[in-house]
Amino acid sequence: MDIQIITLFPEMFTALNSSIPGRAQKQGLVRLSYLNPRDFTYDKHKTVDDKPYGGGPGMVMKFQPLRAAIQAAKRTSSSPISYLSPQGKRFNQAAAKELSQRKALILIAGRYEGIDQRLIDKEIDEEWSVGDFILSGGELAAMCLIDTVVRLLEGALGHSESALQDSFSRSLLDYPHYTRPAKVDDQTVPSVLLEGDHEAISRWRLKQALGQTWLRRPDLLKNHILSEQERVLLAEFIHEHSK
Ligand SMILES: C[S@@+](CC[C@H](N)C(=O)[O-])C[C@H]1O[C@@H](n2cnc3c(N)ncnc32)[C@H](O)[C@@H]1O
Repeated sequence: MDIQIITLFPEMFTALNSSIPGRAQKQGLVRLSYLNPRDFTYDKHKTVDDKPYGGGPGMVMKFQPLRAAIQAAKRTSSSPISYLSPQGKRFNQAAAKELSQRKALILIAGRYEGIDQRLIDKEIDEEWSVGDFILSGGELAAMCLIDTVVRLLEGALGHSESALQDSFSRSLLDYPHYTRPAKVDDQTVPSVLLEGDHEAISRWRLKQALGQTWLRRPDLLKNHILSEQERVLLAEFIHEHSK
């Protein structure tokens, strides 16, 4: 996958050189490249912001360098242009799955009060929000999106099945995880996990995933059609929880 990022702060993306996205880059699964609107300016101060028409606080990303950067990205890719924006569609695991099927992405990280509405109207194909809060810029939002999408690329994870059980992958939260030692002070590991019965372990994990979702994110269960086994396991969890 080829990801072009339009940003005034490409150095922030060094965070993606570690761990899973770092390894995916080394393996050649994903290639990140950057276009900095500052490199598309003509004035001696390399100005990338401008005053908003109508006055008021804050600045807006300068129209001409940003449009030039977008056009340069478009020359090498026919991918839709995505703008990271708090006003966009909420980015989630389902969206990540969809984006992970694309060969290329072009992402725009906004700064200041955002970008000129005419660029949104004419150049942007989709807007993605990472949540109902305001970041100082789109870089962290773009990194969230990239990290999530890269994890889903074939070969990016050591165990690709671990992505299938992750929270949200199947409208359920993940089940609890434990590692050694088996006893820490008065806390023990659920005995089923120590007994080696793989079917019982799968059943316990599914029950916990259903139970955690019921407790913490009941909204997710509304989108999940329970199988007969899941209905029984969730009923068991609720019964045990209410004791
Ligand atoms: C300070 S914000 C501008 C917010 C804008 N004035 C508004 O209220 O909608 C600057 C940039 O950060 C990015 N940004 C901020 N919050 C975001 C979020 N929740 N999701 C995606 N991008 C975000 C966008 O690229 C935005 O252009």
